[in-house]
Amino acid sequence: MSNPIVERSLDEIRFWSRIMKEHALFLSLGFTYEQTQLIAEAKQFITLFERIEEKLARFNVNSDLQRVKSFNNEVYQAAVAIWGYKRKVLGLTLRCEIRSNNYPLLVDHISREAAYFANRLRDLNEGKLAPEPDTIIQENLFFLRIMADHAKFIGHLLDPSERKLVDQARDFSHDFDQLVFQAIDLDSMRPQSETVPLMDQFLDQNRVSVVSLRDFKKTARELIEACRIKSNIHPLLADHTFREAERFLEIIDLFDSHLSGGR
Ligand SMILES: [Fe+2]
Ligand SMILES: [Fe+2]
Repeated sequence: MSNPIVERSLDEIRFWSRIMKEHALFLSLGFTYEQTQLIAEAKQFITLFERIEEKLARFNVNSDLQRVKSFNNEVYQAAVAIWGYKRKVLGLTLRCEIRSNNYPLLVDHISREAAYFANRLRDLNEGKLAPEPDTIIQENLFFLRIMADHAKFIGHLLDPSERKLVDQARDFSHDFDQLVFQAIDLDSMRPQSETVPLMDQFLDQNRVSVVSLRDFKKTARELIEACRIKSNIHPLLADHTFREAERFLEIIDLFDSHLSGGR
């Protein structure tokens, strides 16, 4: 019989290892040609997460729980290592010790994603499958901020002459900033160790916004792949942010079923 912890662990690793590998690629492409050491480090992370993906292929839902837990541990170390590398790059950038084409907010953003991944693995190894009712809003907040950032990155990486798309990206950024503040408000209204009031309604609201952002990213990805718009956006980055929106939609459904199951 398959163990839900095994299933969830493999799913998290499948999704986030590819994401981590791509972050390393995006960072490497954003450095300037003389930043060879930082590029070499990025390449090492690409190899590290490729190895993890190869190992992952040897597991399945019926794998032994202990084996999966020790794999989780190994991947956890890798996620913490790439987090450290991203924070180092952020520090170098903020102190103006390097200049690159990686926006500080982007570097901070991908470090938050690495921390999230590491925390998920730690929780799973502690036997926590889903977040506690009082932390659902925190995880929601994490993803809303991620979506708000994506809208900002798209807006700033499009060519300025793509006025209509830049405007659309700005509207999405505003939409998600509002949702972030709403989540903060709800969290402060939350009774101790309970879920926030009207969480199901807030999740419905989130879903509507995420679906439209996801569709916008999908359109942008198709236009970029077909070379029909002008931008500095790598086609893989367009796809990457699209996948993260899809992931958030899955998480919203998970929370929804968790909340209704808990009642
Ligand atoms: Fe990402
Ligand atoms: Fe992201």
